[in-house]
Amino acid sequence: MGPEDLDKVLRLLPPGDMREEILVGLDTQDDAAVFQLDEETALVHTVDFFTPIVDDPYAYGQIAAANALSDVYAMGGVPLTAMNIVCFPCSLGMDVLAEILRGGLDKVRESGAVVIGGHTVDDEEPKYGLAVTGKVHPKRILTCKGAKAGDALVLTKPLGTGILSTALKGGFLEEEDLVEAICGMARLNRDASRAALDAGAHACTDVTGFGLLGHLLNMLPEQGLGCEIKVSSLPLYPRVEEMASMGMIPAGAYRNLDFLAGNAKFAPDVSDVGKYIVCDPQTSGGLLLAFSPEGLADFATCMAEGHDWFLIGEFLESEHPLIRVIG
Ligand code: CO
Ligand code: CO
Ligand code: CO
Repeated sequence: MGPEDLDKVLRLLPPGDMREEILVGLDTQDDAAVFQLDEETALVHTVDFFTPIVDDPYAYGQIAAANALSDVYAMGGVPLTAMNIVCFPCSLGMDVLAEILRGGLDKVRESGAVVIGGHTVDDEEPKYGLAVTGKVHPKRILTCKGAKAGDALVLTKPLGTGILSTALKGGFLEEEDLVEAICGMARLNRDASRAALDAGAHACTDVTGFGLLGHLLNMLPEQGLGCEIKVSSLPLYPRVEEMASMGMIPAGAYRNLDFLAGNAKFAPDVSDVGKYIVCDPQTSGGLLLAFSPEGLADFATCMAEGHDWFLIGEFLESEHPLIRVIG
């Protein structure tokens, strides 16, 4: 669902229950809920599932699981248990479903968590994902708010998965063209999360359906802080620019761009392609992090070789939550 529709539905509901154990609940834009058990332990709860974005069922399972686990990592947590959520048309064949589940299982295992159950529903269109429970120290929770003016903005995976999967569905790309993107989407945000905690990140979230700008906007408080990003410094998966130029823009990118209206200001040298890229809904995207200059140096050290990360912008003082996008 787009951010606007989700907002509308939530407004129709009574406010969430207030309990002192709820450290992170419905009232913030955070990735997962956090419920405190005792001085040392809080549980992190999250759920995520979606329709296939690639044809290979094993890769789909891996990506769906990495995506669901990511919301635990975005809170600085460690995943403990996971439950499969499956909607599946039996006509597709049980061997296909087994491959999806094997992909998910392998990814959960890699995270150190265990799959301990699940639920299946007969449905016309396949959907797969997980409900994940993790743990976090109550005093070491990463949340989406907390960035300060002067902080560096870091992203830990390239962008463009929505554009690429749109091109794949439209027959303009083959699955082989998406190898890097598939690897990226299947990659856990575990190491980046650990490094972010160790380096004292001020704020953290992950980039998924609302696109880079939508999730970045969630990092900005009601007042006092803005952000500037440079389109030419953004990391992209191969062929994203080419496919975006051909018009392979997912509907969600238009929705996300509309929703940002008053909160994003594009410099004249930002092309339409650039606008859609920064609003492209991501699947299993990277972490978006805010660091002080010292924190950034520590993060660079923690993210030893083989770990991608990209400096993509800077937080600035601003009366209103405003994202300035330059070319
Ligand atoms: Co998230
Ligand atoms: Co989520
Ligand atoms: Co968080």
